[in-house]
Amino acid sequence: MNTRTHPTFRLPLLAGVLLATALLAGCERPPVDTVQRGARGTGMVQVYNPRTLEAQQVKHTPPAEQPAIPATPGGPTASDVYQNVKVLGGLGVGEFTRLMVAMTAWVAPEGGCNYCHADDGNLASDAKYTKVVARRMLQMTQDINANWKSHVADTGVTCYTCHRGEPVPAQVWFKTPVDKQASRMAGSKAEQNAPALQVGLTSLPTDSFTPFLVDAKEIRTAGTKALPHENLQTTKQTEYTYGLMVHMSESLGVNCTYCHNSRSFGDWSQSTPQRGTAWHGIRMSRDLNNKYLEPLTNNFPVYRLGPQGDVAKVNCATCHQGAYKPLNGAKMLQGHPELAAPLQAALDAATTAATTAAAPAAAPKQ
Ligand code: HEC
Ligand code: HEC
Ligand code: HEC
Ligand code: HEC
Repeated sequence: MNTRTHPTFRLPLLAGVLLATALLAGCERPPVDTVQRGARGTGMVQVYNPRTLEAQQVKHTPPAEQPAIPATPGGPTASDVYQNVKVLGGLGVGEFTRLMVAMTAWVAPEGGCNYCHADDGNLASDAKYTKVVARRMLQMTQDINANWKSHVADTGVTCYTCHRGEPVPAQVWFKTPVDKQASRMAGSKAEQNAPALQVGLTSLPTDSFTPFLVDAKEIRTAGTKALPHENLQTTKQTEYTYGLMVHMSESLGVNCTYCHNSRSFGDWSQSTPQRGTAWHGIRMSRDLNNKYLEPLTNNFPVYRLGPQGDVAKVNCATCHQGAYKPLNGAKMLQGHPELAAPLQAALDAATTAATTAAAPAAAPKQ
């Protein structure tokens, strides 16, 4: 038989060539990007999918900034003009108003000023719970930026980092109710065999947050002592640890090797600097939940609380939302220096309040 291609075979051949060309053209952009994070051969590699990153770009882009207000040195401050300002009293009136406008855009663009302010138009009133919560949120934001630089550096956070234009941040967590029947059947009190999203649909305990981001349980799997009776690391503790680690990886959109060398997860000398940042992030999240959110529980209406009656709390995803740095590292705080630290006036007021409060206790001794 003649080896020349018969005309009827040419069409599929052409189609095949075109397909191959198309596939090759697709290869111009690699399906995934890999970034070496340690010596080659140690498995310290980070894998990114450029298409996922692109699709998320909008979510990680900060909103347009409110125009700056020219400072008027010696001009009236908010506490000169308004009746009920406890946190922002030291701000110039122009900057105060600018922040109110920004807060509205960051937290309640649909509700507007009245999402926090009383409907009767009295801006000094604390009638709505949202205003009381927002005042505490202002202090929390200043506290994060001033005292958790070990984690947020100078990038810092604003209300938008968590809220993204919504009154309730998209990523919060509640304590999960334990379904006694299911746990009995699955033989586990930790809801283990009801795979949950927050642990990447694995069969790990569903609530890895309470032990580590409210309580300060040890995040350990490996014992540091050789003898079995000295090694207090339990299987359950290991499972909770892995649950948290899955959450951390997913919140940041990274692999385990973003922080660890997988040949020795516990060894700090083989870990990346990011693991150190994450260590502080765990402590910061725990601090925010204990110092700000849990004490606000009774301020929230019941419909905002979780099935166990607890308040919505913060984890890594609340700020990060899938990015290695929230908003891909955008420095929104620079445009709002009033959120960078507690204002001096607030500090002074707190000192006065503390001295006044301390006085009666000291009195009897004199
Ligand atoms: C997310 C909640 C929130 C939104 C939205 C909000 N505010 Fe406020 N507002 C507050 C808080 C909290 C205070 C008290 C600040 C303090 O104690 O330092 C306050 C105080 C004020 C005061 C001082 C009133 C007084 O006499 O004590 C004015 C004026 C004000 N806001 C105006 C506005 C305007 C105008 C808007 C809409 C552009 C607005 N606010 C939107 C939370 C909010
Ligand atoms: C670290 C993350 C974080 C930051 C930063 C943050 N918030 Fe919140 N905020 C939360 C969480 C979590 C809740 C609880 C959600 C809920 O309402 O159940 C909340 C609740 C609120 C609520 C109550 C909303 C409602 O409808 O129940 C208001 C108002 C609010 N924040 C205002 C602010 C303002 C204003 C700022 C900036 C000064 C701010 N937040 C910064 C995490 C944050
Ligand atoms: C963003 C950084 C980061 C990522 C990503 C991360 N970890 Fe961790 N991991 C840490 C930190 C920080 C600790 C120590 C926590 C502490 O001591 O408070 C830790 C602790 C551990 C431990 C306990 C080690 C010991 O001393 O016993 C194990 C095991 C572990 N991680 C496994 C993983 C696995 C598996 C993944 C991927 C699913 C992962 N980690 C992803 C930061 C990270
Ligand atoms: C209050 C918001 C907030 C929370 C909650 C938070 N982070 Fe962050 N995180 C940030 C900010 C802001 C940065 C950027 C700091 C910078 O620019 O260096 C950051 C940076 C990081 C980095 C460094 C990334 C890099 O490549 O340099 C790691 C790792 C990280 N966070 C892990 C975590 C983990 C793990 C948790 C939960 C245990 C967490 N974060 C919770 C705000 C937060």
